[in-house]
Amino acid sequence: MDSQDKVEETIESREWYLASYVPEGVPTSDHLKLRTSSISLAQIPDSHVVVKALYISIDPYLRDIMTGIDDGLYLPQFQINQVIKAYGIGRVIRSKESNFSEGDFVLSYAFPVAEYSVVQPSHLLLRKIDPASEISFADYLSTLGPAGFAAWVAIEAIGNPKQGSNVFISAAAGGVGIHAGQLAKLKGCHVIGSTGSDEKVKLLKEFGYDDAFNYNSSESYDAALSKYFPNGIDFYLDNVGGKMLEAVLNHVNRKAHIVLCGMISQYNKVWTERDGIRNLLNMIGKEVKMEGYMVGSFVHRFGDFAKEMETYKKQGKISSKHVLYNGIESFLDGLGSVFSSSNMGKVIIQFNSKA
Ligand SMILES: NC(=O)c1ccc[n+]([C@@H]2O[C@H](COP(=O)([O-])OP(=O)(O)OC[C@H]3O[C@@H](n4cnc5c(N)ncnc54)[C@H](OP(=O)(O)O)[C@@H]3O)[C@@H](O)[C@H]2O)c1
Repeated sequence: MDSQDKVEETIESREWYLASYVPEGVPTSDHLKLRTSSISLAQIPDSHVVVKALYISIDPYLRDIMTGIDDGLYLPQFQINQVIKAYGIGRVIRSKESNFSEGDFVLSYAFPVAEYSVVQPSHLLLRKIDPASEISFADYLSTLGPAGFAAWVAIEAIGNPKQGSNVFISAAAGGVGIHAGQLAKLKGCHVIGSTGSDEKVKLLKEFGYDDAFNYNSSESYDAALSKYFPNGIDFYLDNVGGKMLEAVLNHVNRKAHIVLCGMISQYNKVWTERDGIRNLLNMIGKEVKMEGYMVGSFVHRFGDFAKEMETYKKQGKISSKHVLYNGIESFLDGLGSVFSSSNMGKVIIQFNSKA
């Protein structure tokens, strides 16, 4: 092997890592940094593959595991200097694992946010996806990814709201909300969403919501809920927590069901600064059931979910909306966008490099 071959056997790869914890506020370039590492293709350990990243999903939970507070109440935290991992899709470019071949398109819930990575498929639960399938790569990360799965678990596996129920969904124009609204409509529910701009209100109506309101321009959350739910709320899918959750408890019907998916309005605050919910007493009088869930506890239902969502997708009953950011350098902006409400739909980083 001459010196030219040796040069080609090494790949330079940029990767995002956690430089310092983020106890409060939105992550900045002080917390998340890009660095370059080298991968020697001649020295891939057995049972490993080299993957080239193609798409990475940006999900709000990533921010929650950058606080450095490992209290056992949520997912394990990223460690300082650790490469960030997220739901992602890539292509195998070298393989020393018999189940994977060069050229395979693969997906993992813990894909390194790096241009290239050496990974052990069994550790990342790497699975192959068919590039010829009618499902686009972006849809694998949205409708068939964490957001679509969280929506399906809330509506189909946990909530199962009845036909004609009055359903309210917050952060309705995000990845979870867009899918949850469509699933609730397929069940024959009356579905209203809240979101942060008039443009997103319009989008929600295009995605089948019966109606939606802009919480930033509402006189108060209570006033908006009185207007949109004159007959009360039967089912609430909470994606934001805080003041909206409190307002909802003033409008619940008897035996209402509240499913807590996320509380994005609270993620950037230390817990002692978070909004308390002052009217939990209403849950007693109205015999309300409130329950949180983690999609990770429903992996045994992933097959049912994927089959149903793929069918809906092919039948045109469920559609998705993506916001594509270009290039690994855009990861920080993409993450910030979900906290500034500037995203319309599921945020995905598309890597510039050709597969
Ligand atoms: N339990 C689980 O297993 C699970 C799984 C997936 C997701 N989740 C949770 O589900 C929720 C939605 O996730 P997603 O993937 O749909 O998010 P997303 O697509 O990233 O959208 C997040 C949206 O939240 C809204 N938002 C941001 N800051 C807000 C604030 N301070 N107050 C009110 N709204 C705010 C923004 O829309 P607006 O324009 O409406 O402000 C933003 O577009 C998150 O809380 C997430 O953590 C939970």
